Amino acid sequence: MASIVLKNICKSYRDSSIIKNVDLAIEDGECTVLVGPSGCGKSTVLRLICGLETPDSGEIYIGDNYVNDIPPAGRGLAMVFQSYALYPHMTVFENMAFALKVRKLKSAEIEGRVLKAAQILKIDHLLQRKPKELSGGQRQRVAIGRAIVRNPYAFLFDEPLSNLDSALRCQMRYELARLKAQLKTTMIYVTHDQSEAMTLADKIVVMRDGRIEQIGTPLELYDTPTNMFVAKFIGATEMNILPISFVCNEEKLSIFRLSNGAPISFRLKKDVQYSPDKRYYLGIRPEDIDVVSKDAIFYGNMFEGELSLLENLGGDGIAHIALSNGQQLRLKTKRIVSDKVGKTIRMGFGIDKSYLFDENGNTLMGINRR
Ligand SMILES: Nc1ncnc2c1ncn2[C@@H]1O[C@H](COP(=O)(O)OP(=O)(O)O)[C@@H](O)[C@H]1O
Ligand SMILES: [Mg+2]
Repeated sequence: MASIVLKNICKSYRDSSIIKNVDLAIEDGECTVLVGPSGCGKSTVLRLICGLETPDSGEIYIGDNYVNDIPPAGRGLAMVFQSYALYPHMTVFENMAFALKVRKLKSAEIEGRVLKAAQILKIDHLLQRKPKELSGGQRQRVAIGRAIVRNPYAFLFDEPLSNLDSALRCQMRYELARLKAQLKTTMIYVTHDQSEAMTLADKIVVMRDGRIEQIGTPLELYDTPTNMFVAKFIGATEMNILPISFVCNEEKLSIFRLSNGAPISFRLKKDVQYSPDKRYYLGIRPEDIDVVSKDAIFYGNMFEGELSLLENLGGDGIAHIALSNGQQLRLKTKRIVSDKVGKTIRMGFGIDKSYLFDENGNTLMGINRR
């Protein structure tokens, strides 16, 4: 096990800058998940850490060792890719034993390590099979097993579950979480799937366009996103974002207006001046909007919209609402009976349940759930 540190790492391909001044400190035994849209540089960061790419500038440390000049094989890391890359002519046992044979370990030691990893991954009954006799999930376990037997300082996973169907993904996600607790080895895990990130991460790193936007625990990112990008990225059903404009300050509230005219209030912050000429954005999570009755009076913010579509998921549902100006928003509800579709419904949220972003998407006001 080891800590991993990146200091001011930059990387370009030809003249396009791909990784821009990335600083990252991963503690020993921690599971860090890199998330971000496709092409933002997640795989490149992993490849830089394991030595498949060389940074243009900056320093990489594994434990106390400066490793920029050390080739991949000398870094003591094990990488698991989306494509399992198993040797087709070898059995599961031979696939898992291969790297250890190359290292000339004794055969009793090799057998012991392979068997132990196979038991952890529940593939010990498959050791004599060839990859073509395995399901996708089983092949992925073999690929993970091959990493475990090497006792690496850290595991680097690059979207290891994205070839699996959704039921299997869920199951493997759970098993990786169990594995993480059992092995306590440093892990860096890349995914574009935020539920995978929320399940596995001690810390999530949100990337955009080669830069780190924010680092925090899953709940820190969920509760206190630094900007609209992170706010929208974290959360199973995306945060609703609606443009609003500033109207005036009152004694305790700052009043804004949705573009359909509905007033939206935030707590007054004495040190912040809003401008009527600038654009602002209201952020509200789907689970923080309630459907309220016509005579409800205690809500901080209320507005109306037409229920345009209902996804009833069984226990709960997602209601799609069209506002009179054509904007759409989604809210999570208990079941709503479908005869409300096409009708106007009234919604409300408490004034401490929403976010306020400036025109550049930076968070001006957030909520504290804790
Ligand atoms: N070897 C390469 N040569 C040129 N461009 C590359 C190379 N590898 C990656 N890129 C570019 O770098 C960017 C980041 O890629 P990558 O790290 O694979 O993103 P992610 O894993 O987040 O989807 C992409 O725009 C990709 O096209
Ligand atoms: Mg990638």
